[in-house]
Amino acid sequence: MTKQTAKIGIVTVSDRASAGIYEDLSGQAIIDTLKAYLTSDWHPEYRLIPDEQPLIEQTLRELADDTGCCLIVTTGGTGPAKRDVTPEATEAVCDRMMPGFGELMRAESLKYVPTAILSRQTAGLRGSSLIINLPGKPKAIRECLDAVFPAVPYCIDLMN
Ligand code: MTE
Repeated sequence: MTKQTAKIGIVTVSDRASAGIYEDLSGQAIIDTLKAYLTSDWHPEYRLIPDEQPLIEQTLRELADDTGCCLIVTTGGTGPAKRDVTPEATEAVCDRMMPGFGELMRAESLKYVPTAILSRQTAGLRGSSLIINLPGKPKAIRECLDAVFPAVPYCIDLMN
């Protein structure tokens, strides 16, 4: 039997990056960080979208159900600003939440920045996909993924 290449969704949620006002450095930071962790074959499914809850939900559903991503990592839209709705969209599409991810990422992030408590980032399961929210800053990507990544392959194994 041939082993299928794992698909990983990378979703940048940003009004300004999606409008072309600035370059999306965070999506690339996720790809670079995952490259450092993963030795087996994987394929990034990249999406860049504005902070619109229905569109975030639709993108997460598409990546989980149609594209078959085992892991979907979002960046941006987790803070307290009015247009920050990524955690709400994540909760809306997930069957079950995995609150430990957000708790650990906030606790670890506090070692770097006191503003880490401003992120409402969470994680959850939809079907056979694990969805994890990260804050929008490129430097936050590595800080957060370093903390939780050791649990990710085991979580995906348990779900399948
Ligand atoms: N977490 C880490 N590890 N590093 C950071 O620089 N920035 C914080 C927080 N979490 C930060 C972090 C800040 S300033 C904000 S406003 C929130 O994440 C939310 O960011 P977001 O709205 O871009 O998702």
